[in-house]
Amino acid sequence: MLSVENIRVAVAGNTVLRDISFTLPNGETTVLIGRNGAGKTTTLRAIMGLLPLAAGRILVNDRDLDGVATYERPALGLGYAPEDRRMIPSFSVRENLLLPTVALRFPETLKTERLRAVYDLMPELEELQNRSGGTLSGGQGKMVALGRALMVATDVLLLDEPFQGLAPVLAQSYARTLKKVRDQRPDLAVLVTESSPQLLGEVTDRALKIERGEISETTLAEAGH
Ligand SMILES: Nc1ncnc2c1ncn2[C@@H]1O[C@H](COP(=O)(O)OP(=O)(O)O)[C@@H](O)[C@H]1O
Ligand SMILES: [Mg+2]
Repeated sequence: MLSVENIRVAVAGNTVLRDISFTLPNGETTVLIGRNGAGKTTTLRAIMGLLPLAAGRILVNDRDLDGVATYERPALGLGYAPEDRRMIPSFSVRENLLLPTVALRFPETLKTERLRAVYDLMPELEELQNRSGGTLSGGQGKMVALGRALMVATDVLLLDEPFQGLAPVLAQSYARTLKKVRDQRPDLAVLVTESSPQLLGEVTDRALKIERGEISETTLAEAGH
């Protein structure tokens, strides 16, 4: 479970998040909906420690993340797929997937175990495993980014606008994968950001709206227009 408590974040001297609070309970998929520039990416970057908090605190399973460095946060079970998928072009898909576990110095047996679990969930990644990151299509890259986040996401999975730029068929396939993730990892707390949430109907338990750096509860129907 992740709790965000009254956080304030400023970027380049401007307050972007004002006193934001929300929780991501285990086993639920929450969608964070907001227009471009509303503060979705800033929220995820703050959770990952990529931006400092001017106020408030963030807890994962009751542990305060204050003082936990960005590179240490994945070790707490936090998986993050950024908006730009940051594939290493000269690495194979397999090496790209293993990246966070290498950074965290996981033992070989655990790396193999996690990779197997990700391939079982997303068999298309096993088929691609020897391809180099630089040869992937946008849609394939999004899948690898999701798989890579799942390598470490034992507790919390954060996905920043995963559907952006995906062709409809790929977007549907991505949504099906998210549904599988939810079914097969019933304890995971998931946050997906979106500017238009149409595809998320089947996987969403709860929707939050972010506007001008403030968060409120909403429903998909209300936000869907
Ligand atoms: N590097 C930056 N420098 C200045 N302002 C930024 C920067 N990144 C984001 N912002 C500002 O922060 C606000 C929120 O941005 P962001 O979190 O990226 O929104 P979203 O992901 O919802 O589109 C925007 O109004 C944007 O102008
Ligand atoms: Mg964004």
